[in-house]
Amino acid sequence: MDFEIAKSAIERRGFLDVEIDPTLDLFEEIEKLKKEKNAVLLAHYYQEADIQDVADYIGDSLGLAQEAAKTNADIIVFAGVHFMAETAKILNPNKKVLLPDLNAGCSLSDSCPPADFAKFKAQHPDHLVISYINCSAGIKALSDIICTSSNAKLIVDSLPGDQKIIFAPDRNLGGYINKVTGRNMLLWDGACMVHEIFSLEKIIRLKEQNPDAKILAHPECEEPLLKVADFIGSTTQILNYAKTNPANAFIVATETGILHQMQKDSPDKTFIPAPPTNNCACNDCPHMKLNTLEKLYLCMKYELPEIKMEENLRLAAKKPIDRMLELSAQLGL
Ligand code: 13P
Ligand code: SF4
Repeated sequence: MDFEIAKSAIERRGFLDVEIDPTLDLFEEIEKLKKEKNAVLLAHYYQEADIQDVADYIGDSLGLAQEAAKTNADIIVFAGVHFMAETAKILNPNKKVLLPDLNAGCSLSDSCPPADFAKFKAQHPDHLVISYINCSAGIKALSDIICTSSNAKLIVDSLPGDQKIIFAPDRNLGGYINKVTGRNMLLWDGACMVHEIFSLEKIIRLKEQNPDAKILAHPECEEPLLKVADFIGSTTQILNYAKTNPANAFIVATETGILHQMQKDSPDKTFIPAPPTNNCACNDCPHMKLNTLEKLYLCMKYELPEIKMEENLRLAAKKPIDRMLELSAQLGL
């Protein structure tokens, strides 16, 4: 496609659809572009293996936000989904933030539209709003504190016991935090399509076939699955557990991209992706997997598509993120 036509189609297509010379070694090209442009490449564990291998930093949502907050790079290339790149932009108004495919959204973020949430919040004026980072800038702007799955418990624990709290948008993470903290936070009724589709029945059968395997689950999973899990944590926490636990086999109930690092960390251990209720053997996030090595190369070469944000929204969304980063630092995270 002609460059100008491809550029004008970015809003609709989500990425710059121009041809790539098939003889190029994209790994080498991406490394060159990073140096030439002083760009840092941040990737989430749910990205495809090639993208993880070329990234400067791979992490969970908290690690990625912390990395974005401290980088000296001129350009942040975010191999993840839209809310993650948006968070990087909120923290770095003067840097260019690129996302390989603007259509890489998040079902959980979409389950909480700001206009509806504003009405819900208005019905509970005495509640503090804690929002999971998997939400739009509009929801962040309506929140008091942002959290991730790795700091949610500690952040909630740091608040006075009688503090009334609304937790949005994930009802599963919120329910789990209510359980482990003994709170009764009001929950927004949102969920992640990837973590809700695991089949408890198939997982229990897998465990019967592999009795020594530990079940690892992300707190975005539903309660019945969390009840049978040996360990519940963010992607980084799950990875650390799998690396350090003496067990040799693990049933992994989160997005399959994480298995790449698990296998790299522990080549002699067996990692079994937890099966979903459909006929697939594993569970990919369709949003995360919209990014490809080709789109990543193109977005770095042409510096498009770029995340843009209206300044008033950015400033309002920044406050609860700053609060999360401050609290996380105080809590030693
Ligand atoms: P963490 O990597 O922070 O655990 O988040 C998981 C997730 O679903 C990101 O979209
Ligand atoms: Fe959103 Fe779920 Fe995909 Fe994470 S795995 S980006 S929460 S849809």
